[in-house]
Amino acid sequence: MENRSSIDQALKSLLPQLSAEDTAAIVAHLPRLKERLEHLSASMPGMQHSIAIKTNPQTELLRTMVSLGYGLEAASIEEVRRAKNAGCPLDQIVFDSPVKTRLEIAEVAYDAGMLVNVNTISELERFPADATCVLGIRINPQVHAGSPEMFDVSKNESKFGVPISSHSELIQAALKFPVSALHIHSGSQMQNLEAQKEALIGLRDVALTINEQSPGKIHTLDIGGGLPTEAIEGQTKMSTYGLMVQEIFRGTSFKLVTEFGQWVHATAGFAISAIEYVVQPDRIFIHLGADFFMRDAYTSARPFPLAVISSQGRWRSGEARPFDIAGPLCFAGDYLAHKKNLPSDLQESDYLVIDETGANTYALWSRHCSRTVPSYWAWDGNSIVKWAERQTIGF
Ligand SMILES: Cc1ncc(COP(=O)(O)O)c(C=O)c1O
Repeated sequence: MENRSSIDQALKSLLPQLSAEDTAAIVAHLPRLKERLEHLSASMPGMQHSIAIKTNPQTELLRTMVSLGYGLEAASIEEVRRAKNAGCPLDQIVFDSPVKTRLEIAEVAYDAGMLVNVNTISELERFPADATCVLGIRINPQVHAGSPEMFDVSKNESKFGVPISSHSELIQAALKFPVSALHIHSGSQMQNLEAQKEALIGLRDVALTINEQSPGKIHTLDIGGGLPTEAIEGQTKMSTYGLMVQEIFRGTSFKLVTEFGQWVHATAGFAISAIEYVVQPDRIFIHLGADFFMRDAYTSARPFPLAVISSQGRWRSGEARPFDIAGPLCFAGDYLAHKKNLPSDLQESDYLVIDETGANTYALWSRHCSRTVPSYWAWDGNSIVKWAERQTIGF
């Protein structure tokens, strides 16, 4: 693990506070979170950044981001309520669920300033004509921005948004209904910024066409999220993307909104688990499996940086050898990793330190085997505080 020094103090503060029942703990790394948010704002100045709640819905974490001036993107009515509960101003909340019920629409229709993106043209019919939310249409840009298959939402047959090829239908709907925003989200972990450029130009041109017919009708463009995580060093993918976005929208007066998740959160947190059993020659059992690492166990595992620390706070540094890291759930696929190099002097009751677990882990906690959700902590660079107790799944 290269970044060990940035979590060393956090761990030394955390370990003495754990009880015997705390077989695992989740930690938010606030200095990293702030660094990432600042880099996002510097790369895309003057835009509204509404961070995707689905990536990490921890209540205090949402409050922290809101207190720093960031908005929140909600994928469900429950997430809209979380955003409000976190104190997010209505005009910085984006509501994107593709299956909003009539009841949910009634709940948000008069939330003045909240951006509510419809997924289909027929959904527009469900909104009252005098709605005060900002009504947007999600467009499927029909590009392939290089997202992995499961997270690519811009294919022709995607369930998300009105295909950009339905150009005239789209424009007629925007003119007929009280629509004042357009939205795209091409997919997660986009690799191909050229394809995304095409998507953004398509979005801009649809908006300009609508405004030619009804000047000023479209005032907000939500360009989604989708960048993979990266280290903030030198020219980042985020800063390159920011320049591209500014270039595409230069000379226009649209309010631009983004919805990043993974890029903001992934490195801004880590987790630890006690090593409960060491089964020679090469398997360890830990307390975080497909319940916390759901996506990793069921798709392909992310390369989380790993290290081992004793319960007294001493890093194990024995010669590395490969171990399989098994989780606690009752199915054969419950492994965090296979053949991962770990220090050979690791022992039972040491902790496996798993870095960069801030995105799509806690958010996807699975009830499988009804295991307790670990306590959640926050490191601010000086001290560690407990944000949430262990949480038993209800009976
Ligand atoms: C509509 C929408 N916006 C934003 C995001 C966040 O994506 P990412 O974490 O790739 O930035 C997602 C992810 O699924 C999404 O569906």
